[in-house]
Amino acid sequence: MIEKLNVKRSRQKIIVYSIVIIWLVSINIWLLNTYYLSSSSSAEELMPTNSIYNEYETSNEGDDDSKDITDSSSREKSVKDELIIKILQKQLSKAKDTRTMDTPASIYKSIFEKHDIDSIFGNLDFDQRCQLFFKNLFIRDHNWIFNPNEDIQLENKNEFKFNDYKKWHMEEYKTEFAKQHHKNVDEVEHTPQFEDFVKAKYEDFWNRTMTYEQKIVDHVSTLRIFNKCFITSDNKTQISQTNQFIKDQFKLVDGVRRVSKKPSTPAFVSSKEENLVSFHSLESSVLEHRVYPWLSFELPVYERWTGRIQYNPPIMADYIKDGSQKKKSTTDSSSSSSSFFLNKLKQKSNGKGLVLSIGDSHVDDTVRLIHLLRALNNKLPIQIVYYDNLSKDTKNKIVTAATDLMTTVPKSFENVARYFPEDYLTNGLPKQEVWFINTYNAIHADFRQKFKKYSNKFLATLFNSFDEFILIDADTVLMQSPEYFFNLPGYIETGTFFYKDRTTYETRPISDAKFFEKLGPSIIDSVMFNIPIMTQYTLDKPFFKGLFHYMESGLVVLNRNIHYNSILMMLQLNFYTTVNGRIHGDKEIFWLAMAINGDENYTFNEHFAASVGKITPQLERAKPDGTEHKSEEICSPHPGHVSSYDDALVWFNSGFHYCGQLDAVDYAKEFSHKSRLKHIQSLEAFETFYRNPLQIEAAIIPPMDLNIHAVNAEDEPSKGWFMDKRYCNGYCWCGYSIIGGNTKEGKNNELVGKVVHFDDKAIELFKYYGDVWVGIE
Ligand SMILES: *[C@@H]1O[C@H](CO)[C@@H](O)[C@H](O)[C@H]1NC(C)=O
Ligand SMILES: *[C@@H]1O[C@H](CO)[C@@H](O)[C@H](O)[C@H]1NC(C)=O
Ligand SMILES: *[C@@H]1O[C@H](CO)[C@@H](O)[C@H](O)[C@H]1NC(C)=O
Ligand SMILES: *[C@@H]1O[C@H](CO)[C@@H](O)[C@H](O)[C@H]1NC(C)=O
Repeated sequence: MIEKLNVKRSRQKIIVYSIVIIWLVSINIWLLNTYYLSSSSSAEELMPTNSIYNEYETSNEGDDDSKDITDSSSREKSVKDELIIKILQKQLSKAKDTRTMDTPASIYKSIFEKHDIDSIFGNLDFDQRCQLFFKNLFIRDHNWIFNPNEDIQLENKNEFKFNDYKKWHMEEYKTEFAKQHHKNVDEVEHTPQFEDFVKAKYEDFWNRTMTYEQKIVDHVSTLRIFNKCFITSDNKTQISQTNQFIKDQFKLVDGVRRVSKKPSTPAFVSSKEENLVSFHSLESSVLEHRVYPWLSFELPVYERWTGRIQYNPPIMADYIKDGSQKKKSTTDSSSSSSSFFLNKLKQKSNGKGLVLSIGDSHVDDTVRLIHLLRALNNKLPIQIVYYDNLSKDTKNKIVTAATDLMTTVPKSFENVARYFPEDYLTNGLPKQEVWFINTYNAIHADFRQKFKKYSNKFLATLFNSFDEFILIDADTVLMQSPEYFFNLPGYIETGTFFYKDRTTYETRPISDAKFFEKLGPSIIDSVMFNIPIMTQYTLDKPFFKGLFHYMESGLVVLNRNIHYNSILMMLQLNFYTTVNGRIHGDKEIFWLAMAINGDENYTFNEHFAASVGKITPQLERAKPDGTEHKSEEICSPHPGHVSSYDDALVWFNSGFHYCGQLDAVDYAKEFSHKSRLKHIQSLEAFETFYRNPLQIEAAIIPPMDLNIHAVNAEDEPSKGWFMDKRYCNGYCWCGYSIIGGNTKEGKNNELVGKVVHFDDKAIELFKYYGDVWVGIE
């Protein structure tokens, strides 16, 4: 028996050894090909000499062309270029690294100065690496802390190139230079001294920019490493993944040393300073406070619609007993001994539902939304997360909307009654389980001013108590029941579902893309902590090619268990002026934070936003010669979202009134234009039309027109979207199904989008939902 076992064992051994040998041989071949053979040509890669943005262009007159501005870290051969790091990275990901830069946290420099690379990757397990990282942060500065209030300015967002910079500041610098040298403003330009003066200014600007960017890189790296090391470190999946990752690295380091005939892996020796830092006392009491100084480490206050208040997240299954609310299984993550607040917060979340973040000014829309949710037969709980104080009056209105008996439904229900279950109206429209969550005391007093306005949405993301939630704006209009979104295949696969914005022609400078790319995980992050670098999945998004608006965040579906660390990254990113100065509101932060966190497991609906409403009759927009356009047009104040799975309209923005700007509109003026909505005869009817529900028959998703101006000779639109400022107080946008056509030169630049005509059932349902939302009998 024992012999048999031995035979089996030794056979296993042979198999394991042969796998290792094949592996090493293939690595050698890979090395030979990609490293040794190309080493002459990749010298540049090893010794990056250009500035990171590579956009410094010396002017014609400059005689010191060779002068480069480089941040100091890239002057030296960096750790990421060490052979072993390349091999380890190769082992992690087969995909080619297509990023244009790699920016490690500066603390790695001190770590790798002290330690032999092989001694780290060949010996240290995951916990030991975490300790090494944080010990060194303390050694560098005992008082290190993230300060979200630190003022980091985004200056000259559009002027990263020298020539642009020069152009923008020419007058200012001419004046300054002339004053300093007692010269006439007109005679300073084109002198070598003035050129040097401008260059020095630019170098200062560049240095300031690189300095603060490195600072943000350091913050963001520490955050993602802290989260992985301590917040999700009780996750069984993560534990087994990191164990395997470490084991593979040990084998690889050992194997590579054998192949290159080096002695066996050197032991890891802590430096004297590292020995002096007692890590475990740090861990529990200090680390989380240093990384998250804006938390008060108090839970928010949870208030049920009945007025009952509690200081712990509610167990939703106690309130909604239809099986939709799962309790957390304690086997998955050991209800652990972790002393971290954020870890406990995560463990207390449960169930699923809808989340809104509102202030008193949103109460009317919220009430309408709740009526709509009742009509949609929603059974999921709703949590209203607030920060700035929500008045009693607002709460009362919301509770009334959610719980009053609603037995009368609009007349339009008759046409759709057959689509609803039999008990739909038995006890009136279903009541809603509403909770209010007050987050004021969960934020440290020093940082409360950071959480005004848009950022509330991220607080709602963190402090709602669900495992899975749909985060919506008060003026978001759902056309499907909330359950529909949780069942989307993309959501089930990745634990996120996002929607895209209108592809308007606004663009962003390429320096934005560089900045966000720079914040992503570095190669060292990936080989030390198994946090993957950004791939083409993210970098191929049109946002990185200069599209200004990519995401529309009026409805976001998120699984917090899977993406907890990314949610924490969203909050952190939102603190930086240099991040939100590049983004309209909170829109792009959801997916960017995920990618920056090394989590590319997010899904977007494939279609961009559509214009929804009625197709403009061709007669109303005939060409100058009286013929019809090939393109179709919908002008509407509402961007709508059409599912790329089944072309259903799933939700749209800006409420259900035809115009969401009712109080701001100058009706007489808008009516007087008489170039759209020509069927409306009187000013009174015009006002009523604006107030009534949007009528939806079709949707147009224009072709993507980034940087394309499809100028043509056929009077077809040259861009997919056109904002007609004259209507709905400037909120009316026209979308076109086709842009371009034959040009004067006899070419054809036509691009085709998509037109969706909804069927009768859908149109009748939209009508019913519209009547409920607006409150028409
Ligand atoms: C760049 O800026 C930093 C801090 O603002 C300063 O310490 C450093 O001396 C500057 N370097 C150069 C080359 O100007
Ligand atoms: C919230 O509002 C109430 C009255 O509406 C007021 O008494 C209270 O002081 C406010 N609290 C804060 C923190 O602003
Ligand atoms: C994405 O998430 C799914 C399910 O949670 C998982 O199976 C898959 O491996 C993840 N993909 C990546 C790239 O992390
Ligand atoms: C653990 O992490 C994985 C992916 O990282 C996720 O799918 C899973 O839901 C997490 N489990 C818990 C209990 O948080």
